[in-house]
Amino acid sequence: MIVSNRLPVDHVSGEGGDAVWRTSPGGLVAALEPVMRERDGVWIGWPGMPDVEFEPFEADGIELVPVQLSADEVEDYYEGFSNDTLWPLYHDVISPPSYHRQWWEAYQRVNRRFADAALAVAAPNAIVWVHDYQLQLVPKMLRDARPDLIIGFFNHIPFPPYGIYSQLPWRRQIVDGLLGADVVGFQRVADAGNFARAVRRLHGYETRGNLISIPLDEPQASADMRHTTTNRRGHRIRTVLARPFPISIDAQAYQKLAADPAIRARAAEIRAELGNPRVVMLGVDRLDYTKGIRHRLKAFGELLDDGVVSPEEVCLVQVASPSRERVDAYAQLRDEVEITVSRINGDYGQIGHAAIHYLHQGYPRNEMAALYLAADVMLVTALRDGMNLVAKEYVATRTDHDGVLILSEFAGAADELRQALLVNPHDIDGLKAAMLHAIQMPQRERARRMRALRRRVLSHDVQRWSATFLDTLVREDHNDPANQLDIPKRPLAAPGYGE
Ligand code: G6P
Repeated sequence: MIVSNRLPVDHVSGEGGDAVWRTSPGGLVAALEPVMRERDGVWIGWPGMPDVEFEPFEADGIELVPVQLSADEVEDYYEGFSNDTLWPLYHDVISPPSYHRQWWEAYQRVNRRFADAALAVAAPNAIVWVHDYQLQLVPKMLRDARPDLIIGFFNHIPFPPYGIYSQLPWRRQIVDGLLGADVVGFQRVADAGNFARAVRRLHGYETRGNLISIPLDEPQASADMRHTTTNRRGHRIRTVLARPFPISIDAQAYQKLAADPAIRARAAEIRAELGNPRVVMLGVDRLDYTKGIRHRLKAFGELLDDGVVSPEEVCLVQVASPSRERVDAYAQLRDEVEITVSRINGDYGQIGHAAIHYLHQGYPRNEMAALYLAADVMLVTALRDGMNLVAKEYVATRTDHDGVLILSEFAGAADELRQALLVNPHDIDGLKAAMLHAIQMPQRERARRMRALRRRVLSHDVQRWSATFLDTLVREDHNDPANQLDIPKRPLAAPGYGE
């Protein structure tokens, strides 16, 4: 059973006003669809609209159970606590988080509703996999009600250092919620470490490597619960495994798109429509303040201002898909980005050669693949990002072993994609130097880097990710050596540009 805030489907209106659903092309669905079909899986989530009641239904062989949210709950649980408290807090307080008790009430209420929906359909010993920051209380709710369940949790976004996390007035309840799981998965080694530190600081529980030991009181100790054992001091404990599982993409699907003649033709057409500049740079993000879009625009604007690049020679395409538009910080960011784009275009554009092509729209996967193929340089300059799948999509699409990836060291993907041009997006001079390096990079170096990047992405796809998570979750022994990590050892800081 999967429990996530959103169902993996988009609602499209059918003929005669009937509800018609189309599975959204996300990697998570692609990875889990076969497993879910094989095992009679159920997916529990919110259909993305307030106040509409849908019966459970089937899409592509998966049983979907919609959870209903009222307009007030969308405001307080989704826009409020999830996206105006937890999101900024977990992304290094780039934007100040708001703490409102009314939002917290709604978060608890809605988490309970998701847990109840799961409990209503969970078979004995069912495997329940809960996803992301919107549902951190669900694991404990499930465990308290049904100790027989095998409960996994995966956090798709970063987990912050304790100095930041400790701002949260409900820091203890959230940690307790997560500790209800048998396995708590994170994107990076650092996230899992931050979580273990929060557990130690708040509870004093012992942590050893990836294992957290929770002392059990008597009634719990006698229950037949998974992962319980007696520690060296003779106390009954339950162990929780907290470790990284870096998420990935359906790499084969992107390779296939790259081989499609229609998509290749579209890529050529995009370049022609841009006026066949020597270099096309591309950014693709949800319009979110964590993505470093303003930093990227500043660096590009300065390169134009310095006269080292011209808009006939180099253009930037920035796709910024609309996101969480009713949250103030997002509305404000949109204004700032749009003012900056217009300034740069006003100052440096020429007739027939806009410096920046800004698209506040979302695109289907085919068009994204064509854009990736058309782009000589891909800019991923997030100030903080759990993983960043755009970086991996770009790499998987470049079957021609060409194209340069500029990647922020603050994105989870930087732990794996070491052959990208790694940047600190706060360092504008460094970012400019990386852009110039990318623009001027000889073909041999581009191919060498891209080959290495592709080896990693193709061998570590989302299918492998979900299989690794589920294998770990069902393994009886938390100390099994098979739980060892598969993440490259790396230096702490990337060699900085201009350092
Ligand atoms: C991030 C989160 C997801 C979320 C997605 C889109 O990737 O980790 O949980 O679904 O953003 O955001 P939205 O608010 O539209 O669901």
